[in-house]
Amino acid sequence: MRLLLTTSQGIEDLASVEVRSLLDKIGVPFRVEEKPLGVEGRVLAEVGEAFYTDEKGRKRELSVATYLNEKSRLLHRVIVEIASGSFEGISDEEPERALGRIENFVASLPVERFVKVSESFAVRSFRKGEHKITSVDIAKTVGKAIFDLLSRFGKPKVNLDHPSVIFRAELIGETFFLGIDTTGDSSLHKRPWRVYDHPAHLKASIANALIELAKPDGGSFIDPFCGSGTIPIELALKGYSGRIACLERYRKHLRGAEMNALSAGVYDKIEFILGDATRLSEHVDRVDFAVSNLPYGLKIGRKSMIPKLYMDFFSELAKVLEKRGVFITTEKRAIERAIEENGFEIRHHRLIGHGGLMVHTYVIE
Ligand SMILES: C[S@@+](CC[C@H](N)C(=O)[O-])C[C@H]1O[C@@H](n2cnc3c(N)ncnc32)[C@H](O)[C@@H]1O
Repeated sequence: MRLLLTTSQGIEDLASVEVRSLLDKIGVPFRVEEKPLGVEGRVLAEVGEAFYTDEKGRKRELSVATYLNEKSRLLHRVIVEIASGSFEGISDEEPERALGRIENFVASLPVERFVKVSESFAVRSFRKGEHKITSVDIAKTVGKAIFDLLSRFGKPKVNLDHPSVIFRAELIGETFFLGIDTTGDSSLHKRPWRVYDHPAHLKASIANALIELAKPDGGSFIDPFCGSGTIPIELALKGYSGRIACLERYRKHLRGAEMNALSAGVYDKIEFILGDATRLSEHVDRVDFAVSNLPYGLKIGRKSMIPKLYMDFFSELAKVLEKRGVFITTEKRAIERAIEENGFEIRHHRLIGHGGLMVHTYVIE
């Protein structure tokens, strides 16, 4: 079975390390490939059959897709591949011809193996690159082709709002992919614990990527701009043994972080501090790891305050940080200046896709 796994752009390597380690634990043969066919934000896993022994000692097949949906912290979706194909030249083709090719391709697939005629279905589509067709065109064309195929076996049921089976059709550049989306309509990065929705919250998958980059080893940990608490909560959910602090300047967000932590069942594992990160040393004497999604101040007016905010924060951080810091921001110039002028060194830099932007991520020591 081939599973197409989706995640944020720029963290495919970390997601594939996680997937390998999860698959190792269930003893299934596998091969994992980052960015299959060069497609960013994707990891392909070819997996063999996995089994477990039930309470009566019987050997049962284990659904690898369900297992990954349950256990992964870095993935967004787990999609069982039906087929994929290279559609050379589709970018320049007129809509009728491009959609005709997609329809013929889908019509040749054994779709009935993946959905019972009694089950309702819907097609969700995704398109990236230059094309003369839209993702809505793709969903309609693929939906019609599947409907026609299933009609040979009975009366197919389409339910666009609450389908039992979700087909996912993707056209990325000149690669077309069709699969069954086992995750459902809500991406895995939308955590069920989020009861307080901060306007600039970080995706939980990216929070976990930042934690992986920080490699916290049990020492004390702080998110000095913790907002709704995404990073500290995700760390606590991993069973982190060290002290975890969540510092935030605004009471409303700190209360939100507390509510999220309560809902995640980790309220007792985190210290919530109402305070200003530019006076960090007044709140903590020393800290081993600091990981944060810095304020970007996209609103005009506030943006001019960013260089000073970063400079003040990093000069405070220099007084207390013992091991490593990981920070994500759009403000490349301001952060690099603040890092360098306060005696830190950049050990690693990468771009991560977040909210439609490629955001700069730094590991500093
Ligand atoms: C990008 S948001 C962090 C979002 C967070 N990662 C989450 O997932 O909810 C930045 C946060 O920094 C807070 N903030 C701004 N200036 C601050 C300061 N001087 N000290 C502490 N927090 C501050 C903002 O109120 C905001 O909640």
